[in-house]
Amino acid sequence: MMRFIIFLSFFAVINASVLKPNCVVIRNRNYEKDVLKVDIKSPYQLAIDHDTNTLFFSFTARKDEMFKIAYLSLKTREYNVVSGIHGGFATAIDSNKNKIYMGGEDGIYKFDYKTKTATNLGLLSNVNIWQMFFKNGLYFTTYPEETAFVYKKNKVDIVRELVDIKAMLVAVNKAGHIVYANSSGLFMYNESTQTTNLLDTAVVNGITADIDGNLFFSTPTGVYFIDENTKQVDELFRMENIYGVAVEGNGDFIYATEDSLVRLKSTKNECFFEQTWISNEGF
Ligand SMILES: *[C@@H]1O[C@H](CO)[C@@H](O)[C@H](O)[C@H]1NC(C)=O
Ligand SMILES: *[C@@H]1O[C@H](CO)[C@@H](O)[C@H](O)[C@H]1NC(C)=O
Repeated sequence: MMRFIIFLSFFAVINASVLKPNCVVIRNRNYEKDVLKVDIKSPYQLAIDHDTNTLFFSFTARKDEMFKIAYLSLKTREYNVVSGIHGGFATAIDSNKNKIYMGGEDGIYKFDYKTKTATNLGLLSNVNIWQMFFKNGLYFTTYPEETAFVYKKNKVDIVRELVDIKAMLVAVNKAGHIVYANSSGLFMYNESTQTTNLLDTAVVNGITADIDGNLFFSTPTGVYFIDENTKQVDELFRMENIYGVAVEGNGDFIYATEDSLVRLKSTKNECFFEQTWISNEGF
């Protein structure tokens, strides 16, 4: 009887494309992370003034645990906290009239770059504003009521599509339809049919328009585009701990995490590198 012991030896060559840690691929384009600001607690409600290239956002001030609004120049990175506002949480920009509106615990404010101060318009002193969006009128929601209002032609009204419907976030899409989020999900209201489409059941924590009026939103785990023609939501990128999103004039993204603001800058650099492992498996 002969016994054979067979030894086999394999050298396996494994090639893989590895994503660089500072890179994100969105719609087949490469973006590199550029950290704009660190050590900022809970930045929410990002809004960009495209005229001055300034990013506005809310944060939680550590000293008194109050909401405040700050801004960061995307050109010079000059950073300032807005003064004169009680519990500022929301910002919206009327780019036609170059007006910056802010929402505080006691109504609507207007911001002045020269004095870096917000002044209460004295319209509604008993509403605590949660979020704002400008398109042919200043749309805003209140907390804790979750009512959506619009300020237009010197009058404040409940958004007529959202009477008796709770909304934490409200926006208007290119076609002029109301898009809103509440604890049940993200919805789009169709004016002509007076029907509501469910776009997503995710928890939406931020909604924004790019310079052309296309809508984007964030959830704690990603950033999405709303295709208003197909009524579909496209996932742009996934990431943990997202607090909000804004889109720059050139299409670059800015997102907030629990303690920082990061720009995703479009790049021609490769996002992947090839890595080769040689493994020796003998048995
Ligand atoms: C959210 O909006 C949807 C669609 O309008 C509505 O059916 C639902 O009741 C709302 N949720 C809350 C908590 O109000
Ligand atoms: C509204 O509904 C009508 C009829 O279904 C449809 O033709 C139209 O495209 C819808 N508009 C939007 C913006 O979804």
